Amino acid sequence: MTNLTLLTFVLLLTNPSFSLSRPRCRRCKQTSCDCSKQNLRDVPAAPSKLITKLDLSFNHLSTITKDDFVAYASLQSLIVNNNMIGTIQEQAFDPLTNLTELDLSSNQLDSLSAEWFESLVSLQHLNLLGNRYETLGQGNLFQPLKRLKTLQFGGLDLRSVRKSDFSGLASLEEVVFDGRNLQAYAEGSLRRVRPLKHVALSLRGPFKKNLALVEAVLSDVAHPNTKLTFTNTSFFRNRQINPFRVLKEGGTTDFTFKNVNITLGAVVAFFNTMSDSNITKFSVIDTKIFLSFASNLPENQHFRGWEEIVLMNVDIPQFYNFPALFFLEPLLNVVRRVSLINVKLYNVVCENSRDFSRLEYLDVSDNMLNDDTLGEMMCNGELDFSGLQTLNLSWNNLHSINSRLFTKLHELENIDLSGNAVYRMPETCHWPPRLQFLNLSSALLIEVTACLPKSLRILDLSHNALTVFTIQLPYLTKLYISGNKLSILPEASLLPRLSFLFVENNDLQTLGSTVLNVYNNLTTIEAGAQSYECSCDFVAFMTSDLTRQRVTIADEIESYVCDSPDAMRGKRVTDARLSVFECQMALALSVLCAGILAVILLVVGLCHKFSVPWYVRMMWAWLRAKRKPKLKKGELEYDAFVSYSEMDSGWVEAHLIPELEQNEPPLRLCLHKRDFLPGGWILDNIMEAIEKSHRTLFVLSQHFVNSEWCKYELDYTHFRLFDHNDDAVVLILLEPIDKDTIPKKFCKLRRVMNSRTYLEWPDDDNQIARFWQSLRSAIKRPENGERNDIEETLNL
Ligand SMILES: *[C@@H]1O[C@H](CO)[C@@H](O)[C@H](O)[C@H]1NC(C)=O
Ligand SMILES: *[C@@H]1O[C@H](CO)[C@@H](O)[C@H](O)[C@H]1NC(C)=O
Ligand SMILES: *[C@@H]1O[C@H](CO)[C@@H](O)[C@H](O)[C@H]1NC(C)=O
Ligand SMILES: *[C@@H]1O[C@H](CO)[C@@H](O)[C@H](O)[C@H]1NC(C)=O
Ligand SMILES: *[C@@H]1O[C@H](CO)[C@@H](O)[C@H](O)[C@H]1NC(C)=O
Ligand SMILES: *[C@@H]1O[C@H](CO)[C@@H](O)[C@H](O)[C@H]1NC(C)=O
Ligand SMILES: *[C@@H]1O[C@H](CO)[C@@H](O)[C@H](O)[C@H]1NC(C)=O
Repeated sequence: MTNLTLLTFVLLLTNPSFSLSRPRCRRCKQTSCDCSKQNLRDVPAAPSKLITKLDLSFNHLSTITKDDFVAYASLQSLIVNNNMIGTIQEQAFDPLTNLTELDLSSNQLDSLSAEWFESLVSLQHLNLLGNRYETLGQGNLFQPLKRLKTLQFGGLDLRSVRKSDFSGLASLEEVVFDGRNLQAYAEGSLRRVRPLKHVALSLRGPFKKNLALVEAVLSDVAHPNTKLTFTNTSFFRNRQINPFRVLKEGGTTDFTFKNVNITLGAVVAFFNTMSDSNITKFSVIDTKIFLSFASNLPENQHFRGWEEIVLMNVDIPQFYNFPALFFLEPLLNVVRRVSLINVKLYNVVCENSRDFSRLEYLDVSDNMLNDDTLGEMMCNGELDFSGLQTLNLSWNNLHSINSRLFTKLHELENIDLSGNAVYRMPETCHWPPRLQFLNLSSALLIEVTACLPKSLRILDLSHNALTVFTIQLPYLTKLYISGNKLSILPEASLLPRLSFLFVENNDLQTLGSTVLNVYNNLTTIEAGAQSYECSCDFVAFMTSDLTRQRVTIADEIESYVCDSPDAMRGKRVTDARLSVFECQMALALSVLCAGILAVILLVVGLCHKFSVPWYVRMMWAWLRAKRKPKLKKGELEYDAFVSYSEMDSGWVEAHLIPELEQNEPPLRLCLHKRDFLPGGWILDNIMEAIEKSHRTLFVLSQHFVNSEWCKYELDYTHFRLFDHNDDAVVLILLEPIDKDTIPKKFCKLRRVMNSRTYLEWPDDDNQIARFWQSLRSAIKRPENGERNDIEETLNL
């Protein structure tokens, strides 16, 4: 290897933008690359400098080098969770000054370095969960991250948190802290970033072994404006609840258990501990509650400030032994908002529900209530929740709409009955007077009736099996009716105030400004996700400037698809191209007709110009004549047919007739003036005359040339000439004709004159006798056996 190539090689290897050895990412769009799960061992080459989002999660990266992101200077989001990253070189993230999101979770980093974050001045979201570090670096780790809003840190190995760990985080709003094995916590560490909006703590180990540490953490984060969530922990002993005392002092208002295992005793202990606290909202989410001995419940008055309880996805294993949610009773009597979502609720007895008198909002969706137990819960319509505004009964086991259960809920404005297999609604119903919102989506309805309350402002009938909507709702402004089988839009006159219409995924065939403008107050429609008949009007409407329409199409234009015509099936309406013929049928037809007419006129004109009809008729006549048996010599009626121009009739009458017909032996001439049958078609006459004559005599003159008529006669004879190949034509030249002056269309005459000798009418009187003699012998019929060759005769 020469020195030069070695040098180039070394340069290539050390050049940071050298990317030949880098893998390629297979899923890149203009500004984002999704390289997740591609078995990558190295950061792939940047397809362009404009990439702002790079997802490298679930690969096999183990080291991040300082060259890896040189080509990614525009990056805003870098996701590298679930790799095997153990090492990150100190300047690796230096180019990423615009980075706002960095996810390094679930890797194998065993130490954290402040150098990494030196240049990440734009970073807002940082996730360091699930690594192997035991401490948060050497202190001041996050100092450069002045804009950081959310910080997620900790994991299996995190042992200690020191006082300076969170210095510099001036904008922090949210912390997720996994301290499941935390052993040391310097008091006041998290206090310096107080108050945060949300803190999620996972302190399973400390809750088991080190309640003092828990208390230290809690007293640092507790604040009236901080929502607290306790995750991934088990509370099996009541004393584990003790640390929450400090929340009372901190003034915590919003508290959540999420993804925990807890005994009923611990829950009750929590209530006891938190009685007379400033808590307003208490949530239990994704949690298992185990039945256990519970101490006495505190009195109602201890929960005076509580407003909202949320239980969502709560699993109570021994549910059927369980006095239905009795532990909530003292709370339910005071709070105003209750959500019991997916907690296997199947019954609330009337006596209990009577006590929930302060409720304004009740969400019991996704439970097991049926028509009977709902009737029980609502005390068969006698229940008087004077303040209830919202009732969510969606996704239960209801099979009917029993509006009488709600009639006395005078304040009720919203009711959600979606997701119940209702099938049919009654013909008439009795709803509370203020009802504005009704959700009957996914209820298997096949028709709607006047049961729908007239006072409705918003109605959701999505995902049913409706084919028409013909109910008058004078106040309705929003109608959700997607996922049905409507083939026409709801009658506009029945919905005078409608301004939002959602009709995706139905059987509509078309849409257009005329259809939409019938709705006086419609401003927005969503009608995609279905196949349309791509008529010209529809395609024109969809491809026009829709922003100039009064009604806005709010969903993706790409989801409007053509079903017909066949050639367009499956295409997006915006890609449909219809031919002019399909679209401007009337115009296209008239243009076509005009074209055809023009061609016809042209053909007629040309025919006229070139006498085509005459030729056709002549041809026909000739064909007929050809089929007729040719007359024998004896049957010929005339000796000669004389063809002449009218202008030359003087000569014919004064010289030709007398000479040939009156002198001995008289010849019989056929003259059109005299011998043609009156009334017959002239051509027939001519033909017959020629047929019946022994010779045809042409009297040529300038007049003859000028006369159309004579040309035809000539033409016909010419046909015959070729036909019979016998010499039946005699030409008389009355005056000299310059062959070159004969018009082109008389080419026949030219040719005949060229190919035949002719008799010239002499100027000299002495020659006249000889002329007549020659003529007579040219016309004369041969005696039997005598040869009569006109060429010979004329050969003067
Ligand atoms: C970083 O963001 C700023 C403002 O959004 C922009 O002007 C600049 O071009 C970006 N830098 C890079 C390297 O993309
Ligand atoms: C809760 O208990 C279940 C077993 O019942 C267990 O699988 C799960 O990991 C526990 N969750 C927590 C957060 O301890
Ligand atoms: C809690 O556990 C769930 C899985 O059970 C996990 O997805 C989540 O990240 C954990 N949260 C914390 C803060 O450890
Ligand atoms: C609890 O709320 C009351 C009334 O809003 C307020 O005066 C008191 O300071 C709060 N307690 C704490 C510890 O923030
Ligand atoms: C009722 O609950 C369902 C499911 O939990 C939810 O999607 C819906 O938005 C709720 N309805 C109202 C009116 O809050
Ligand atoms: C109606 O209920 C369904 C299912 O519970 C929900 O997804 C939808 O958002 C609700 N409609 C409205 C308008 O809130
Ligand atoms: C039509 O809508 C506008 C604004 O959305 C509203 O102010 C007006 O009252 C509506 N007209 C009718 C007849 O409902």
